[in-house]
Amino acid sequence: MTEFSTIYKLSLVAVFCLVQACSSSCPVLECWFVHEKGRGGLTSGGNQEKTLLYISTDEHGHPAESQRAPSDANPDRVFFITDPAGTLCQPPLNRPSGSAKKPQCEINPFLPHPSDLKWVAALTESTLSPLYLQADWFTTSHQDSKQQRTISSIMRAPPGAKEHNVILSVTSTTIDVQARLGEPVQLDCSFWVDPSSPLSGSGFAVEWRYQFRGDGRLVLAYDGKMDRVADIQEEGATLDFEGLHEKGNASLILQEAKVRHSGMYICTVYLPYLVAQVAVELEIVEPPTLSIYPSPLPLTVPGQTLIVQCEASGFAPLSLELSWEFKGTDGKSRPLGSGSVTGHRQAWDGTFSQSTRLELDTTNLDLGRGGEVTCVGVHPGGTRRASVTLNVIGFSTPSVEDSMAMVGVALVLYGLIKLVSWTFTSSGPDEADEQHKKKN
Ligand SMILES: *[C@@H]1O[C@H](CO)[C@@H](O)[C@H](O)[C@H]1NC(C)=O
Repeated sequence: MTEFSTIYKLSLVAVFCLVQACSSSCPVLECWFVHEKGRGGLTSGGNQEKTLLYISTDEHGHPAESQRAPSDANPDRVFFITDPAGTLCQPPLNRPSGSAKKPQCEINPFLPHPSDLKWVAALTESTLSPLYLQADWFTTSHQDSKQQRTISSIMRAPPGAKEHNVILSVTSTTIDVQARLGEPVQLDCSFWVDPSSPLSGSGFAVEWRYQFRGDGRLVLAYDGKMDRVADIQEEGATLDFEGLHEKGNASLILQEAKVRHSGMYICTVYLPYLVAQVAVELEIVEPPTLSIYPSPLPLTVPGQTLIVQCEASGFAPLSLELSWEFKGTDGKSRPLGSGSVTGHRQAWDGTFSQSTRLELDTTNLDLGRGGEVTCVGVHPGGTRRASVTLNVIGFSTPSVEDSMAMVGVALVLYGLIKLVSWTFTSSGPDEADEQHKKKN
């Protein structure tokens, strides 16, 4: 009985420790506090300050945490944040100690404001308690490219309070997406709203925008209050509407990847007066298809120069290295250089093509009896190869097959000569013809 109670107590302690560890395992985030974002276009070093974010997933975890704040830190530059969803507190965001590359994090003051975008305006039609908005608001944006995670949060502290609560967070777990041509593409984006906030349940809107080299356009806008797609500018773009309402899954689905889809996509989530967004980069990567001309190669005699052409087509992006290789009958491969590579052309679907021309000088290159000529295309989407067989005939050291073929040819020639000489000696060509016809 005593043993049992000891075990019981021990396991209780263990569970307690585990819970303690879990609730306090959030890493301290180091962020740059940017005072005047956007003013003057650039943020100079002068108006950003290092800030520490202490994150807890439950509201009562703070007093213990505050004791851990370094005494030399500026109290204004230490934030205590409650994030019930734990978005800011997931293990992948833990910075491994000693790692040189820190995740990027920025924190800015935020001013709640209504939006006059067509699909957002309805969210602020009903009058909300303005008291709730009169608070201390901040927005953080956090990127961990190594972990492929980006998070944007809006936090609020009631007036006079030191502790902030996450009200809205938007996350993507795919910062860089690569897709093959024609494949369906999914760009991850999800959001969480504090269910205890009066802003929750008053509707939301989701907007995906596309940006490439300063050129931006709308992809899709969804009005979550009316449950309707307010605007769609990209054919085949859609959302998982069920997942969106049930789990805040705002991932964009492109049914069929095209080259022109490469670029930056911005997922913006609107709540009444609040907005947060994350950016995702999509690149369509398609390796080339290689073909060699002429194929098969004509028989070649030593001393002859053969022109071989390799055409790479249907690839994207425009980043291809073409080269040639030769593999002799001895099985050894050796490089033949890149040949003369042409400029590229772009097809209607945005894919590129490029070719290379190789002059195969059979005397200089010591190609022996021939072998395999291979065109190699190295591309970010993968390495592709195409080969043709090269036959050099009449080479000085003929093989058994060559010798036999030569003997055969000699025999046939001998037979022909014999026949012709016999025909001419025995009779004239006309008679011989007549005899031939009679026999048939
Ligand atoms: C979000 O929706 C997409 C498309 O239906 C799905 O593939 C993905 O797994 C969902 N993500 C989550 C976290 O549920």
